[in-house]
Amino acid sequence: MERILIKFNLAKKGIDESRYDLLFVGKYRDRKSVTNRNMLNKKMIGVIDQAIEFDNFDSEIGSLLPINTHNFKKIKKVIILGMGNKNEINITALCRIATTASGHLKKYKKCRTLFLLDIMSETDYLRSFMESVNLGLYEFKKYKGDPVEERRLSVDIYNSKISIKDFRDLIHNSFTVSSAINFARDLVNEPPMFLTPTKLSEYALKISRVSNLNCRIFDGKEIEKMGMGGLNAVSKGSEEPAKFIHIRYKPRNSKKNIAIVGKGITYDTGGLSLKPSDSMRTMKMDMAGAACVLAVMSAISVIKPNIEVNCLVPTTENMPGGKAYKPDDVVNAYNGKSIEIINTDAEGRVCLADALSYAVKLKADEIIDLATLTGACIVGLGPYTAGLITNNQHLGDRILDSANKSAEKIWQLPLDDELKNEIKSDVADIKNAGSRWGGAISAALFLENFVGDTPWAHLDIAGPAFIEKGGTWYPKGGTGFGVRTIINYITNS
Ligand code: BES
Ligand code: MN
Ligand code: ZN
Repeated sequence: MERILIKFNLAKKGIDESRYDLLFVGKYRDRKSVTNRNMLNKKMIGVIDQAIEFDNFDSEIGSLLPINTHNFKKIKKVIILGMGNKNEINITALCRIATTASGHLKKYKKCRTLFLLDIMSETDYLRSFMESVNLGLYEFKKYKGDPVEERRLSVDIYNSKISIKDFRDLIHNSFTVSSAINFARDLVNEPPMFLTPTKLSEYALKISRVSNLNCRIFDGKEIEKMGMGGLNAVSKGSEEPAKFIHIRYKPRNSKKNIAIVGKGITYDTGGLSLKPSDSMRTMKMDMAGAACVLAVMSAISVIKPNIEVNCLVPTTENMPGGKAYKPDDVVNAYNGKSIEIINTDAEGRVCLADALSYAVKLKADEIIDLATLTGACIVGLGPYTAGLITNNQHLGDRILDSANKSAEKIWQLPLDDELKNEIKSDVADIKNAGSRWGGAISAALFLENFVGDTPWAHLDIAGPAFIEKGGTWYPKGGTGFGVRTIINYITNS
């Protein structure tokens, strides 16, 4: 295992090339040479231009061109970062460029690095850049036998405009956000035998203690007594006790009160409607919604939004034990509505029913839930995009906007009334599963029964929460999807 410690420094005018081992410099597709040309030595520019031409470097985002500079001054290597077309550069592109670069940085043992990118003088870009460098260094190696090795990387960023004080604040802020995202990744990647509902609650308490937040954990008995019949039913097949987590952040002059709700199934076997082995694997990620909202809370005392945020997590395993809830059962959710169980594998919505009703009872002005809810959403949108379904377009638009500023892909699906027939029940108020068609939408229509008139947005993160193969800018496994978007959302609320 490696622990990589990264230190960002500000490089100002009059760069001393002899201080660096490695130089990253940007190149737009529609520009002949690299950015910040005037800052580099003429000889160096010559070498760079020649390499770009010789290699026919296409400057695609995520591509890079390493050039050995034969110890020019001290610099041993220059890496050209493809930046796409100049007029198409945005936060998403920059995040990808930065994660690509830091993925490359990973391999150096000791290295003083300088980044020269023309857009870094804009604060939002600079912040996202530092965040993404930290994200790109993420690895989950906790259970590998390799000895722990500590490595220190020093990364200088050229920016002539920003003051040292603002730069320090940005480092602090970006480090808070990237640590939150990496924390969410850790929670998702942790094997399910360790990350139980009890363990998740311990993390919730720890986060709350550190940040001085109010935290309540309801245990199995309280869950039952409160009338959370959904969560209670789902938990019955498991030996692990269920929990309901409520963390509250309340600033003095809060403008409004929002609830963020995360699905916390620490393992989804499907229950009695057991999943086939191939679909069961990776179901440790079924608490990614919970990981996301807890990660947001871990950063909230640094972000200090002036709105009240209530974080709600219903958490349990979904197991086929002797006491397991069954298809044909009828359970009552926290708001009193009865639910006929058709399929015990549609467990997320049954637990969320209680959590959403609880948010309504808290008189939340807005509710946002994040859940790895349906395979159908992955079929529809692919593994890299989350589905957004909302009963309030204004809220939906603001979330889409936050996602755009966060390098996260979210696409809206309709809350199609006509599909309501799918979840009509003969014996109860509603049933928990319909036909295959429009499965992500009928799941949302189910949830809609528990939010009353409250503006509500549902994010189905089943795809992007966990990327098995990884990729240039996604780590393998848990991605921490949603943390950036929600943090952005509450920051701008
Ligand atoms: N946790 C799953 C959804 C899921 C599937 C997440 C694949 C990530 C990857 C959820 O609890 C589930 O099993 N949903 C069922 C619903 C069906 C039984 C109506 C599904 O999508 O098949
Ligand atoms: Mn399931
Ligand atoms: Zn599930």
